[in-house]
Amino acid sequence: MNSVRIVTIVGNRPQFVKAAAVSRLLREAHEELLVHTGQHYDDELSRVFFDELGIPAPDRELGADSGSNTEQTARILAALEPVLAELRPGLVLVYGDTNSTLAGALAAAQAGIPVGHVEAGMRSFDRTMPEELNRVLTDHASDLLLCSTQTAMDNLAREGVSGEARLVGDVMADVSLAFREIATERSTIVARLGLDPREYLVVTAHRAGNVDHPDRLERLVCLLEALPPPIVFPVHPRTRARLEAARLLDRLDAVTLVGPLGYLDFLELARHARAILTDSGGVQKEAYLLGVPCVTLRDTTEWVETVDAGWNVLVDLDRDAALAAVRRTPPAQRPELYGGGHAAERVRDAVSAYTARL
Ligand code: UD1
Ligand code: UDP
Repeated sequence: MNSVRIVTIVGNRPQFVKAAAVSRLLREAHEELLVHTGQHYDDELSRVFFDELGIPAPDRELGADSGSNTEQTARILAALEPVLAELRPGLVLVYGDTNSTLAGALAAAQAGIPVGHVEAGMRSFDRTMPEELNRVLTDHASDLLLCSTQTAMDNLAREGVSGEARLVGDVMADVSLAFREIATERSTIVARLGLDPREYLVVTAHRAGNVDHPDRLERLVCLLEALPPPIVFPVHPRTRARLEAARLLDRLDAVTLVGPLGYLDFLELARHARAILTDSGGVQKEAYLLGVPCVTLRDTTEWVETVDAGWNVLVDLDRDAALAAVRRTPPAQRPELYGGGHAAERVRDAVSAYTARL
C-alpha cells in the first residue's frame, strides 16, 4: 500500500478526542502530521486531552486564538496557506463542524489538496448555528466524506455532494469505549465531589445559541435552578464569561460548578450520572453509549438516532420539559448505533483506499 503524507487539522476539544481515535491508526499506514490551529488554547481544553489520550504532539501550532466566527476562520485560513504549501500533503483530514474544520477544508481545497472530512453529513437543519454552516460548507469542499451514521449518508445523498461518502461509524464512540475502564481506574471525581452513583445530574452548555443571548442564558439559569440537586456543571470558559458578565453566577449556588474537566474525569462523572443535560453534540452520543439518559438543551440535534431510540429528549430551554425528561425511565433496549468502537479502523482503510487511487 502507498504511504502518503496526511495533514490532520485539529483545534478544539472534541477534535482532540476524535484525533485520539484516528491518529495512532493512521500512522500505522501513513505519515501523519498534526496541525493545531489554537482555537482552543487553555490547558484544560487542549493539553489535557493530548496527555490523557496519548495524542501525538502537534507538528505545527497556528496560535489562532479567540474571536468572532468570521475573524477566527479567516485567521486560521490565512495561517494554513503557507503551512500546506510547505508540507504538501496528499490529503488533509478535518473533523466535525468548528471554525477550524471549515478553515482547514477550505485552505486545502483552495490549494488543490484532497480533503477528508470525518463526521461528514451531520445536519441539524438550523442554519443559525455556526456549526451547521461549517458542516454544510465543509462537506461541499470535501472529497472523502466519512460518515458516523446512515442518516448522515442520506443527508449527503440528498444534497448531491461531489465527494465520495463512506459509512465508517463514529470515532468519538471508539474513544469513549476504549477509555471507559481506564477512566474508572484513574479518576476519583465521583468520590472527590462527594457524589453517589446514579444520584446526581451532569450539565454541560456552551452553544452560542444558548449562552450568547442574555434572555436565553437567563432561561438556562432558571432551568438549572429548578433541577433536583446534586447537579455538577463543568463550565466551558465561554459560558463562564457570559454568566459572569450577566451577573448570573450567584444564582447557581445550589449547583456544583467546576472548570472544564479532563476527558477521564468527565467520562467517569458522566458514566455514573442519573441523567445528563447538555447542548453538546459529543456528549449526547457519549451519554447514549454509557446508557445514561440525555436531555438535550436544544430544539434540534444531528444525533437523531439517540432520540429515536428513546434515550435522548430535546427540550430546548423549557424548564418543565427538562424536569419531566429527567424523571423519565429510559427504554430497556439500546441498539448499537455508532460502529461498535471500530470507526477509526474504517477511517484508516477508507483513507488508504482513496489515496491509493490518487
Ligand atoms: C467551539 C466550536 C463549537 C464546539 C466547541 C467545543 C465554533 C464555531 N464553535 O465553540 O462548535 O462545540 O468549540 O468546545 O467553532 N476560550 C477560552 N479558552 C480557550 C478557548 C476559548 O477561554 O482555550 C473562551 C474565549 O473567551 C472564547 C470563547 O471561549 O471567545 C469561545 O471559544 P470558541 O473557540 O470561539 O468557541 P467555543 O464556544 O469553544
Ligand atoms: N468533555 C470533557 N470535559 C468536559 C466537557 C466535555 O472532556 O468538561 C468532552 C466530552 O466527553 C466530549 C467532548 O468533550 O468527548 C465534547 O466536546 P464539546 O461538548 O466541547 O463539543 P461538541 O461535541 O459540542 O462540539
